[in-house]
Amino acid sequence: MSAELDPATLMKKQVGAAAAAMVKSGSIVGLGTGSTAAFMIQALGDRLKSGDLTDIQGVTTSFQGEVLARECGIPLTTLDMIDGIDIAIDGADEVDPDLNLIKGGGAAHTQEKLVEAFSKKFIVIVDSGKLVNKLNLNFLLPVEVIPKALNPVTKAIERLNGKVTLRMGVKKSGPVVTDQGNLILDVKFANGIDNAVELEKTLNNIPGVLENGLFVNMVDLVLVGEVIDGQPAVREIRR
Ligand code: 5RP
Repeated sequence: MSAELDPATLMKKQVGAAAAAMVKSGSIVGLGTGSTAAFMIQALGDRLKSGDLTDIQGVTTSFQGEVLARECGIPLTTLDMIDGIDIAIDGADEVDPDLNLIKGGGAAHTQEKLVEAFSKKFIVIVDSGKLVNKLNLNFLLPVEVIPKALNPVTKAIERLNGKVTLRMGVKKSGPVVTDQGNLILDVKFANGIDNAVELEKTLNNIPGVLENGLFVNMVDLVLVGEVIDGQPAVREIRR
């Protein structure tokens, strides 16, 4: 095992590299956001530099991803310029047994869902701690809200029995502001989420909600990083 990386980071690096190895030359690639996706972006950059991979174009899902992809020498395109994406790769905050997800820990779920829904194949990369039996028992569900709608949306979610917390910035006074200039409400349902399909629609139907972090029936493959007998391993879970 690598001496300098803790097990969770090592698992993230393993799955990032494993997913990057699945990208074929000539592809348009959706590039996710977060610490696990960052390892994948770096691994794609390494493959490009070595000549093992050629002629790809990336579509980023956040400012963070855009800066990193440029640093790694990945040519970028935008949704306006293309007819579709061949493969999208991203992390997640929770993955349930139906391969439904909670995303948005990095407040990037709106652009992530846009890119991943536009992709022929969506691969999720997680360490084993992200696998759960039921969504939202531990991780709060992020909901992106336009600033003027903060009060009405909060009240509407409370009527659905969700406990709502406005996400606050770190090393910044006031709330987190998304790449779109909006706010994030983190929502907890007392018994977790029973019907992710219905809740995703219900939340997105509240006026003022831009997008919520439930990703349902979107995932083709999950790569799970594990440490078995001290050795890193990657397990595949297919839909
Ligand atoms: C960002 C996301 C991330 O993919 C998710 O938070 C996982 O991040 P990490 O790989 O750092 O644990 O949804 O909005």
